[in-house]
Amino acid sequence: MARFLRPKRTVTSLLDPLVFRNGVRARNRAWLAPMTNQQSHEDGSLSDDELRWLEMRARGGFGVVETCAAHVALDGQGWPGALAVYDDRLLPGLRRLASVLAGHGTLGIVQIFHGGLRSPRSLTGRPPWSATAYQAPGMERARAATEEDLVRVIGQFRDAAARCHAAGFAGIELHGAHGFLFGQFLSATINTRTDRWGGSLEGRARLVRETMRAVRAAVPARFLVGVRLSPENHGNADGLDLDESLQVARMLCEDGADFIHLSLWDVSRNTVKRPAQHPLPLFRAAIPRNVAIVAAGGVWIRGEAEAALDMGADAVAVGRAAIANPDWAAKVAQAGWQPRRPPLTRAELRERGLNERFAAYMCNWTGFVAD
Ligand SMILES: Cc1cc2nc3c(=O)[nH]c(=O)nc-3n(C[C@H](O)[C@H](O)[C@H](O)COP(=O)(O)O)c2cc1C
Repeated sequence: MARFLRPKRTVTSLLDPLVFRNGVRARNRAWLAPMTNQQSHEDGSLSDDELRWLEMRARGGFGVVETCAAHVALDGQGWPGALAVYDDRLLPGLRRLASVLAGHGTLGIVQIFHGGLRSPRSLTGRPPWSATAYQAPGMERARAATEEDLVRVIGQFRDAAARCHAAGFAGIELHGAHGFLFGQFLSATINTRTDRWGGSLEGRARLVRETMRAVRAAVPARFLVGVRLSPENHGNADGLDLDESLQVARMLCEDGADFIHLSLWDVSRNTVKRPAQHPLPLFRAAIPRNVAIVAAGGVWIRGEAEAALDMGADAVAVGRAAIANPDWAAKVAQAGWQPRRPPLTRAELRERGLNERFAAYMCNWTGFVAD
C-alpha cells in the first residue's frame, strides 16, 4: 500500500546563496550586522578608516555587509563620526564604499536612520524631537513632532534611499529597532499622540509605513529595501508588544519590504511574552514566505547560525563575532574552526580594522576590550 511520506526537511546551510524575492542574490546567508563605529569624518563623509573596516568584512566573505546607522538628516544624527546620507555632497564617499563592497562580491546595504529623541543637541545643534514631548533618562526633553516634521523626515528617508541607490549600493534598511525615531513612534509608552500619527497601532505604525512606501516608490524593484525591528522591549526599545510587532512586520511587507531584520540580542531565546515560543517561527508564520527574515544576536559559531535558519530565519547577521573575526563568514566554512572571542587588546582591534575611537567605543561592551 502506498504510504504518504512527509516531505524531507531541507536544512539550509549558512553558506547557501540567498535569493531575494526581487531576484537579487547574496552569495551566502552571513550578514555583517549594522554597527556604529564612529570612524567617519565629523560631517558624515566616509573616511578611510570606515572604508577599511567594512572592506575587511567584505573580503572576509560576508554575503551582505551593512553599514552603521547612517543619519538621513542633520537633526537625526546619533553619534559623532557617524557615516551620513543626508546630502548629495556625501555621494563621492558613498560611491567609493559601494564600489569597494561590490568589488568583493558582497551586497552593500546602508542602514538609514533618524535618532529622534536620541539625537542630542550637543551633536546636532538642534533641539531633539520625537512622537511626543518626552523625557528619556539622561536625555534632553524632546519636543513633539509637528505634521511638517513628519512630512519632511519621510522625504529625507526617501531621498537618502535614492542617494544610496545612486551611489551603487544593493539596498537600504530602515532602522526601526532599538528605540530610535521609528521605534519611538511605534512605542505605546512614548507615542501617546491623538492625531493620525499615534493612538492605535495603525496610527503608531504610520510613520514607518509611509516611509517604507515612499522609499519603495523612489527606487527600482532591484534595489533591496528592508527594515530592522525590535520585536519586544530591550534596552532603549520600550513600549513594544510582540503581537503588535508581528502585525507591524506584516504591514511593512504589504508596503514593499524585501526583508525583515529582527534584532533579538540572543537568537537562542524564546519570547518574553510567550516563553514557550521562539520569535522566528512566529515571524515566519506572520509574513509572506518570499520576504526574507534576518536574525541577529549572540551568534559566534556556524551551529548557532544554522539553528536560527532551522527555526525560520533566511540569513543571520553577526556583530561582535565579526569585530573579533573579520573573515568570520569565510572561516565558518572550515570544519572545527573556533572563532576568536573577547577580550581583545587594542592592538588586536587595530589589526582588525578598528581605529582608536571605535576601540574606545567598544569599551561600552563589557568584557570586549582587554586594555
Ligand atoms: C559596536 C556596536 C554598534 C552597534 N550599532 C548598531 C547600529 O548602528 N544599528 C543597529 O541596528 N544595531 C547596532 N548594533 C547592534 C548589532 O547590530 C547587533 O544586533 C547586536 O550587536 C547583537 O549581535 P551580536 O551578538 O552578533 O553582536 C551595534 C552593536 C555593536 C556591538
